[in-house]
Amino acid sequence: MIQLWYWFKRKEKFLHSFKPVVLITGCSTGVGHALATLLYSQNQYRVVVTARSKSLAALQQTFKENERFMVRALDVTSEQQRSSLIKEIESSWGAVNILVNNAGISYRAVLEHMTEQDELHQMATNYLGPVNLIRQVLPGMREIGRGKIINISSVSGMLAMPTMSSYSASKYALEGVSEALWYEAKPLGINVTLIQPGFIRSNSFRNVYYTEKSNPEAVKGQIYEDYYKSMTPFVERLMSLSLTSPQAIAKLVLKVIQTENPPLWIPATLDAAVFYYLRRLVPRRFLLPILFILLPKSRSWGKSYTHRRKP
Ligand SMILES: NC(=O)c1ccc[n+]([C@@H]2O[C@H](COP(=O)([O-])OP(=O)(O)OC[C@H]3O[C@@H](n4cnc5c(N)ncnc54)[C@H](OP(=O)(O)O)[C@@H]3O)[C@@H](O)[C@H]2O)c1
Repeated sequence: MIQLWYWFKRKEKFLHSFKPVVLITGCSTGVGHALATLLYSQNQYRVVVTARSKSLAALQQTFKENERFMVRALDVTSEQQRSSLIKEIESSWGAVNILVNNAGISYRAVLEHMTEQDELHQMATNYLGPVNLIRQVLPGMREIGRGKIINISSVSGMLAMPTMSSYSASKYALEGVSEALWYEAKPLGINVTLIQPGFIRSNSFRNVYYTEKSNPEAVKGQIYEDYYKSMTPFVERLMSLSLTSPQAIAKLVLKVIQTENPPLWIPATLDAAVFYYLRRLVPRRFLLPILFILLPKSRSWGKSYTHRRKP
């Protein structure tokens, strides 16, 4: 009888271990919300969906907790919240097996309009937060000899855009660290993947951050006004015309979760694939001048503010 009880216990543990634990950041909107929705119905995973405290109540309304689904507060820039959440997951479910670093913000500002504080905020959210989370989940993954780190990057991590310098820098940083980590983690059985979306048909352009100097009121009649006037509607138009929805990116992330050895780089939208090949095929000295000409009204940018461009 006792043997049978032990057999049941072992079997129960065995079955339990078949439900990998997925931790997702930034689930209140967009891609994170779409992925949370998709995984809510996937019984083969235990899932921790997270959002900053201000968005937590809405998330709790949408997703009811159960034995395989947790909803928790997580501001990725907070060391205290990161470590207490990882500790809680490890004590309840053993370890995080799959980390999806999705949370991200984007400043709309030319470099001159950013302050050091703004730069730190951008980097803390898109680079330092994700990297510190990775550092905290790696020991658990190492112990099992399996794991997946999925970082949501961007086309801006392969080609930078004017008025988004800091965002591009944060995604380049995420790309760099993921590439190095790929080598370090591979021998330990841990996969690293960068999902690289271009424009996604989402409302995230409404969530962009302006700085004191870059907000639409402050730039009126000032140098760089024409940069913003061309780039802001251009980016919004490309996003609204995009064929890719947050749900499509969520499905791609699920595919990566289900794939035994996913690749490091995954261009996730049509424009991402185009930019990927452009960057590889067009010589660098021609690429940027060509892209510059293609940007709306770029040839007249800053004309009245520099002797260089006066006729
Ligand atoms: N949308 C695009 O066209 C596009 C293109 C390429 C790459 N991406 C990348 O894809 C990812 C998801 O973007 P999205 O389009 O879904 O954007 P989104 O709708 O603006 O969602 C971003 C999410 O990040 C959360 N967030 C922001 N700061 C946070 C922090 N400090 N801690 C925790 N969560 C935080 C936001 O939650 P709150 O409710 O707390 O603000 C929100 O849930 C981002 O990494 C983004 O850079 C997006």
